[in-house]
Amino acid sequence: MQVSELQQEILKLKQQQDVCILAHSYVAREICEIADFVGDSFQLSVKASQVKNPTVLMCGVRFMAETVKILSPEKKVLLSHPQAGCPMAEQMDKEMILEVKKNYPDYLVMAYVNTTAALKTIADVCVTSASAVKIAKAIENDKILFIPDCNLGAYVAKQVPEKTVKLLQGGCPVHASVKPSAVREMKELHPDALVLIHPECVPEVTEQADFVGSTTAIMDFAKQSDAKEFIIGTEISIAEHLQYDCPDKMFYPLTKDFICSNMKATTLIDVYYNLTGQFGEEIQLDAQTIRDARRCIDKMIELGG
Ligand code: 13P
Ligand code: SF4
Repeated sequence: MQVSELQQEILKLKQQQDVCILAHSYVAREICEIADFVGDSFQLSVKASQVKNPTVLMCGVRFMAETVKILSPEKKVLLSHPQAGCPMAEQMDKEMILEVKKNYPDYLVMAYVNTTAALKTIADVCVTSASAVKIAKAIENDKILFIPDCNLGAYVAKQVPEKTVKLLQGGCPVHASVKPSAVREMKELHPDALVLIHPECVPEVTEQADFVGSTTAIMDFAKQSDAKEFIIGTEISIAEHLQYDCPDKMFYPLTKDFICSNMKATTLIDVYYNLTGQFGEEIQLDAQTIRDARRCIDKMIELGG
């Protein structure tokens, strides 16, 4: 079967069953093409609170599907691949943070959305890479315990120097593995290219960027810029989407290994089987977890919108 035939079958099933498909822009392009909405983590959270369909299929990773369930508990929420987790979201648990909190009783817990539902229950506010700086500025508290990503946290601390930000040792294994020398080498190869970097990269990498932002912010910047060449410092899909969207410009992935295997776990045929009920996982969260985890996500949407 051709990719386009399979896409047509999926669209038919999706309509028959009244399913909304949400996709993070890191998933495969042929999935993004049949999704109702494609975006970054913040946009997906907002969308999750607005969806009308009784079933939502999240093509992304587990914390994203959990966020949909927390915001729309009455809906059937499916994760496209049961093994698609985000390693960063598993790095810290609720018990560990409650222990750390004992030493920082007057700090507000700011949790990256890449955390489990259980950990969100003890966070004061959630953030994404798109909303973190804005929320850190807007939040009333001047002492912040930022979890789990120390690189995004360091970026926030630099942008919001009026606040005290305590960091812990966590982060995205995909973004954090990029070496500062990779930027220097790519700049030598493409001296006219602008360097656009995701804030999950280490400070020595983001410091070399012309622009730092979330996946959507990087895409918007590249589309609106008059420049013709760009080095893209985030998951390889973003350079691919941009190359399709702007054929008159050139996009170079910062490294060829910039691949999130969890975001790439779902294939188009998996999506077909998600809709026939043969594959995927329905997200189950207890009512108390949903109630408690929702507070920090609602606060993020209120302050980050
Ligand atoms: P954004 O979608 O917020 O840019 O985050 C990227 C990411 O790594 C999602 O897990
Ligand atoms: Fe998690 Fe990093 Fe993959 Fe995003 S890119 S889902 S933060 S491992």
